[in-house]
Amino acid sequence: MSVGMKSVTDRLRDSGLLRTQGLIGGKWIDAYDGKTLEVHNPATGEVIANVSCMGGKETKDAISSAFDAFNSWSKLTAAERSKGLRKWYDLLMAHKEELGQLITLEQGKPLKEAVGEVDYGAKFIEFYAEEAKRVYGEIIPATLPDRRLFVLKQPVGVAGAITPWNFPLAMITRKVGPALACGCTVVVKPSEFTPLTALAAAELALQAGIPPGVVNVVMGNAPDIGDALLTSPQVRKITFTGSTAVGKKLMAGAAGTVKKVSLELGGNAPCIVFDDADLNVAVNGALAAKFRNSGQTCVCANRVLVQEGIYEKFADAFSKAVKNLKVGDGFGEGVVQGPLINKAALEKVETFVEDAVSKGAKVLLGGRRHSLGMTFYEPTVLSNVKSEMLVSREEVFGPVAPLLCFKTEEEAIHMANDTNAGLAAYIFTNNLQRTWRVSEALEYGLVGVNEGLISTEVAPFGGVKQSGLGREGSKYGMDEFLEKEGACSTAFELYFEDGLE
Ligand code: SIN
Repeated sequence: MSVGMKSVTDRLRDSGLLRTQGLIGGKWIDAYDGKTLEVHNPATGEVIANVSCMGGKETKDAISSAFDAFNSWSKLTAAERSKGLRKWYDLLMAHKEELGQLITLEQGKPLKEAVGEVDYGAKFIEFYAEEAKRVYGEIIPATLPDRRLFVLKQPVGVAGAITPWNFPLAMITRKVGPALACGCTVVVKPSEFTPLTALAAAELALQAGIPPGVVNVVMGNAPDIGDALLTSPQVRKITFTGSTAVGKKLMAGAAGTVKKVSLELGGNAPCIVFDDADLNVAVNGALAAKFRNSGQTCVCANRVLVQEGIYEKFADAFSKAVKNLKVGDGFGEGVVQGPLINKAALEKVETFVEDAVSKGAKVLLGGRRHSLGMTFYEPTVLSNVKSEMLVSREEVFGPVAPLLCFKTEEEAIHMANDTNAGLAAYIFTNNLQRTWRVSEALEYGLVGVNEGLISTEVAPFGGVKQSGLGREGSKYGMDEFLEKEGACSTAFELYFEDGLE
């Protein structure tokens, strides 16, 4: 282990945040067969820790714990649940630096961005601590004079939360925050690549006084854990962020026990730059939308569509800006582009670039593995990209910006919508009418206008078409963990029938 990494892990161990066992019913537990899996630092390949490699049996026990805890957690007052969440938020913020370091260690994103993720992730807990108190029902005008009809919102039950490696904290808090606020309990399955942040966050939940069994964490054998969550009748909700392929399997699997499902799946975000855009705003916005987390987010711009009148100028200014992005180990000074998560991700990026070049795309910048080795890839700009190339059809999930040229607004809208995905889109224009027209014509769940960073805890996040179901964040994120129970009661005697009117 390098000196740098050892000092970071020592500090995390000292603060009790370097957890390596699963959390079931408030107890830290090894895999029942003693198996472990290695967690690597993608920047160096070093092993950070060995964590319990769990499967179906441990997941079943985690579900039982969550099921038992649901009885009491769901019966607390909203104010009591809110207090626990608020305390958890305070602890996440108090450990912002260490959590940021942990994210950089296991995920690779630059430290500043990792600390930014802690801020972003913690805000979901703060927001839902507040939202817990606003689960309002409704009174419906009754159809008979002596009856009253009302809608009572009830927590759905135990939720299984399956989360990805690209945001090791924020994708957990965005799910667990609203779940707990509504009175649900959870079994979290973090990615095998980045379980350490999840475990540290769970440790802080315990320290915040969130009762044992309310938050459980199991990681290891993904198919076995997934099966246990899907087949259990005690699990009433599956919430997932990850690939569209896995999302479809989960949706099919959840049908067996008719669970509520929310899915935040892959995107193929168009970033449309019109002739009338402010060049600087467009370059900076596209840069942020494309190169956040080295291109490894579902909302990253996947295709940059540029109108012919501004194409050359934009390509030039954008390439210059991309050239300045410093690549390296996320702990390095001034680094803004870390490694890709693993070899498979690197090979995918390579294949996509090779496919584009073989079909006529021109490499303006980058286009190959970085000299740093490992899974580093050079920030890349491709021009002369066409809609039929792999980089246009599928999510590249890496630091590659393909530029496509268009002539008219109609053509841009057609190109943008010509995909099964519908998560995020971006437009750059100074024309107000166009802003409304194009935003509304885009078949996407999120549209950024003259803005490349659009994620926030206060706005709904989610996709249309094959990018998913449901919304996370904002007040709408609560609906995913609530059932609407309709109730009818005989309200009172009808006095006027007795002449007492
Ligand atoms: C994701 O990549 O799935 C999440 C991105 C975000 O929250 O901004």
